Amino acid sequence: MIRQADPPILLRDVIDDLDAVVGLLERNAPYTPLGGWYRPGADPDAATSPLWFQNDWVHADLEVEGAALFLHNERMIEAARRYYGAGSIAPHSVYVNQMAAIERGGPAHTDNPRFRGRDRSNTPMGLLRTMLWSGLFERWNIVQATSIWWMNDVEGGGFRYWPDGPDKPPQRHVGDVANTALVGDNHGMFHQVEPVGPFDRGTLRVSPRAELAPLADGSGEWAVTDRGAVRFRAPLERFRVSVLWKADVYPSEAEKRRLADDTLSLADVVRIFDDDLARRGEALRLDPDRLDDPERSLALSAVYPEARPVDAVPSIFDPEA
Ligand SMILES: [Fe+2]
Repeated sequence: MIRQADPPILLRDVIDDLDAVVGLLERNAPYTPLGGWYRPGADPDAATSPLWFQNDWVHADLEVEGAALFLHNERMIEAARRYYGAGSIAPHSVYVNQMAAIERGGPAHTDNPRFRGRDRSNTPMGLLRTMLWSGLFERWNIVQATSIWWMNDVEGGGFRYWPDGPDKPPQRHVGDVANTALVGDNHGMFHQVEPVGPFDRGTLRVSPRAELAPLADGSGEWAVTDRGAVRFRAPLERFRVSVLWKADVYPSEAEKRRLADDTLSLADVVRIFDDDLARRGEALRLDPDRLDDPERSLALSAVYPEARPVDAVPSIFDPEA
């Protein structure tokens, strides 16, 4: 199945009070290296992590002070409403990425899906992604709008995206991105962070224990400290800072209420996959007790492969990187 989204909506001059964003960044330091499902089982003491730091500002159980600036941002909400022609936009997540000195791109990807009744809290991420690419669970897919906002213009750090589908050439948002946002469907549209400067020292790598925080030495600079040593320091404006915003999208409040009880159980997932596998003449079946078994996950995703977008730049997480 090829998913294809409309091009995202570009907003300019999104945030009036940029000092408030600096305050948010400072209050919520330190930041830790990107972990998660791209890098399972990383050795906590090996210098394997690029300078790609992340922190949550809003999720189901959290809303840090001042995050309303993004969470309830009227421009983002209005753009999402326009993009989807939807009556109900329910923002639920805000998180921030800070990056520097990464000579390769991030992974070209679509964002991880959620389904009513099934998300990463109760279902392996690999299975959720295969559910998406199978097209068998569209009825339960929770449509999510995404906004990406950029704080500053840095060396490199462009945003590469595939608004015409993964088999058509990508477009780029680069060069004049400070205080702009792109609002659209990052769950349906492939996208990728291009290499991030400064480029004069290769890709720096630190351990998963590293932290990014403002220095307290009066310099105004931020520093990456890893196991007691400063590995990189620079003014905040040299870091590629982006703030991600996500909202659930429903045609109307009434429709949102109507759908709330229509949820997927794990047994439903197994049954729907098994029926489809049988219909396709595949011998493979799901084992409800071993849904995160790597070999079976690979076999299942081979039946329902993800698209690979054309003209992606090499990723920092490619095995040869
Ligand atoms: Fe993404």
